[in-house]
Amino acid sequence: MSSSGKWTTTKIRALKGKGRITSLTAYDYTMARLVDRAGLQIILVGDSLGMTMLGYDSTLPVTLEQVIHHTAAVVRGVEHALVVADMPFLSFQVSVEQAVDNAGRLLKEAGADAVKIEGGSFRVPVIRALVENGIPVMGHIGLTPQSVRAMGGYKVQGRGEKAAEELKASAVALDEAGVFTIVLEGMPSDVGAAITEAVQVPTIGIGAGPGCDGQILVIHDLLGLYDDMRPKFVKRYAELGTEITKALEAYRGEVEKGDFPGPENCY
Ligand code: KIV
Repeated sequence: MSSSGKWTTTKIRALKGKGRITSLTAYDYTMARLVDRAGLQIILVGDSLGMTMLGYDSTLPVTLEQVIHHTAAVVRGVEHALVVADMPFLSFQVSVEQAVDNAGRLLKEAGADAVKIEGGSFRVPVIRALVENGIPVMGHIGLTPQSVRAMGGYKVQGRGEKAAEELKASAVALDEAGVFTIVLEGMPSDVGAAITEAVQVPTIGIGAGPGCDGQILVIHDLLGLYDDMRPKFVKRYAELGTEITKALEAYRGEVEKGDFPGPENCY
């Protein structure tokens, strides 16, 4: 935990080169409380909520209203972590004005501390406008899931010298535009490390190797709660899906046999 209790974008920025930043997604009050109590510094209310919470097969259908709803729940569960809300597909691409308006709602209505935006150098005008209006921005480059249709699937990016150089140029442009961190997703480890060296702000990797300044995972992947996709970069630290099924079967069995409720559960 930071010395004065709450993680801010300034404190996160200051961690560059001084140890690893820890981050996870969360989408609801209960899970956010657990993540916060475990001492992670950043909680991202990712648009991955479309898949983990809402059952879509991509992040594309997620709406701003849904992100506001989930972010507000997360904020209610958090004391220390910095809460970053993801800007969903088409909430920031149409115009800079609309992006400022929508990002502002994530801070005003949901209580987020910052927003995240997918995309490289071409996002600089939007990022500048947000930052100039007091809205801290986390960048996100590499495998950007909102571009799944354009990429032709969830494919590792930055392979080959030219592609790696383009990614690095994007990271530098985002850094200069004023982001406080950059998520690096789905790229070779040496590219993740080279970008980390090239920028002044901390990088947070997901499938970008150990050379980043921090790491992030989708909490459902880490806990073994989500099976629809199992990317190589995920490490499962628990198998809660299996545990939950076992608990539910035990409950069903006891109710069927009349063992629950027992005397200790009755008034
Ligand atoms: O939506 C999300 O969860 C994300 C992270 C995986 C970085 O963008």
